[in-house]
Amino acid sequence: MNIQAILSDKISTAMLAAGAPADSDALVRQSAKAQFGDYQANGVMGAAKKLGMPPRQLAEQILNHLDLDGIASKVEIAGPGFINIFLEPSWVEKHVEEALASQRLGLAPVKAETIVIDYSAPNVAKQMHVGHLRSTIIGDAAARTQEFIGHRVIRANHVGDWGTQFGMLIAYLEKVQNENANDMALADLEEFYREAKKHYDEDEEFAVRARGYVVKLQSGDEYCREMWRKLVDITMKQNQETYKRLNVTLTEDDVMGESLYNSMLPGIVADLKAKGLAVESEGATVVFLDEFKNKEGEPMGVIVQKKDGGFLYTTTDIACAKYRYETLHADRSLYYIDSRQHQHLMQAWTIVRKAGYIPETMALEHHMFGMMLGKDGKPFKTRTGGTVRLSDLLDEAVERAQVLIREKNPDMPEEELLNVANVVGIGAVKYADLSKNRTTDYIFDWDNMLAFEGNTAPYMQYAYTRVASIFKKANLTQADLTLPISLQDPREIALATRLLQFEETILTVARDGTPHVMCAYLYELAGLFSSFYEHCPILSTEDEAVRQSRLKLAALTQKTLKTGLDTLGIETVERM
Ligand code: ARG
Repeated sequence: MNIQAILSDKISTAMLAAGAPADSDALVRQSAKAQFGDYQANGVMGAAKKLGMPPRQLAEQILNHLDLDGIASKVEIAGPGFINIFLEPSWVEKHVEEALASQRLGLAPVKAETIVIDYSAPNVAKQMHVGHLRSTIIGDAAARTQEFIGHRVIRANHVGDWGTQFGMLIAYLEKVQNENANDMALADLEEFYREAKKHYDEDEEFAVRARGYVVKLQSGDEYCREMWRKLVDITMKQNQETYKRLNVTLTEDDVMGESLYNSMLPGIVADLKAKGLAVESEGATVVFLDEFKNKEGEPMGVIVQKKDGGFLYTTTDIACAKYRYETLHADRSLYYIDSRQHQHLMQAWTIVRKAGYIPETMALEHHMFGMMLGKDGKPFKTRTGGTVRLSDLLDEAVERAQVLIREKNPDMPEEELLNVANVVGIGAVKYADLSKNRTTDYIFDWDNMLAFEGNTAPYMQYAYTRVASIFKKANLTQADLTLPISLQDPREIALATRLLQFEETILTVARDGTPHVMCAYLYELAGLFSSFYEHCPILSTEDEAVRQSRLKLAALTQKTLKTGLDTLGIETVERM
């Protein structure tokens, strides 16, 4: 049930009938205040301006053509020419019943698109750190959201599994294997990488061997391939543990690392040259782009192949976009990568478009995000200034949640407590990230994210348990509710209307890749439920019809909270 779309459609039709220009937009929005109705059309002023007509006069003509019979109980013109729409409670009732009966909260079917979602993308032989956390969490919410709507989602984990560093990593793995019978040193990837680098910098013989391995690896040497594979596998096994802890849906099958595109790269460079887009410049192959200027104000040169024949991160991303069109048949490709890589992506995609590798109809979208900052407003670091390991961060989250949950539930059995603490702790870290507008930096603050008040995971999870407990207390399920919904109290109407706005919320999140919009919706929904619950007794009501109607509202609230949190990858428990 997409109320916004239904009203937009009706009002646009009436606008045209009233003589508004064909390209007028009705601009239907949810009203900010109850006195302005449930929805507001803000497009009349713009249309009137184009016609050179007083807006209120146009608004009146639009109302003459507007047919909202059965949908709206009142439509009025306000201020300079806004149209305020008040929904008809019986219409809301009908659609709440439908949503309750539906498996998908009443969502209309969509024309399924193939959507590639590029997220997480850690680097081989490196520990995943907090920098990869945002991509993983936000990208996974996007994947869940698109799937719930009915799209075909291809998760693409663009792992950094290629580059000249592999020579040194292979040489070091070899050394470790020779010295220890097992690969223990790989348990700590960060340490492994540091040691490899140290040897490379300090031991000339080692460095020569490492450089030799780069060449051999690139030419497909069996031994080097095998060592490389080992490094990739060990890294991804460890990352898989993290995904599991985070309740992230990525699997090992979703790995589409940089190396996947290797075989495409020579052909692409040759093609860019043949098309006159790439030229030789000081031994390298470069694409000069008018769209980007360097410091001197000249077209910026983007290197696609180095002097020594090596390819670059940009070349890979050109191939990657092409592959997602040609092989994966994507309609949209969404990239969850931090904002510092924006220019890199724009350059790669400008080249992709110029070379005609993908049609205009396929969307390439950078859903970028800012940095995670410490309380001091500086990039998030350990107390000693190192990068924070993701696993340490998650351990701390769960520990802190344990303390809180134990305090609130001194009698909870230990096993249940550990589970609740896990769900709350991990949920808190994820929700703190998801609830902020992703485009800006945000401050990582334990106390805020674990608070039981405000737009936090614990608050939302607790709100869910409260609704769930009503049914448990009454020993009822949804199937026991056979009488119709009847909305009387204004709080019932407000809650019911908000419940019906789930579809327009999730469609917005899917379009813009903005999970914070879902968080804000769920938070408001929980608030409306609270005031409904406070003023409209449910189980203590004598009148069976009222009781059942209210129980139905509670049931749909429970389903909506659960589904909404699920699209965010946030788990719930039955009590906490
Ligand atoms: N591995 C890269 C990094 O850690 C991110 C890759 C993002 N995806 C892409 N298609 N470039 O910075």
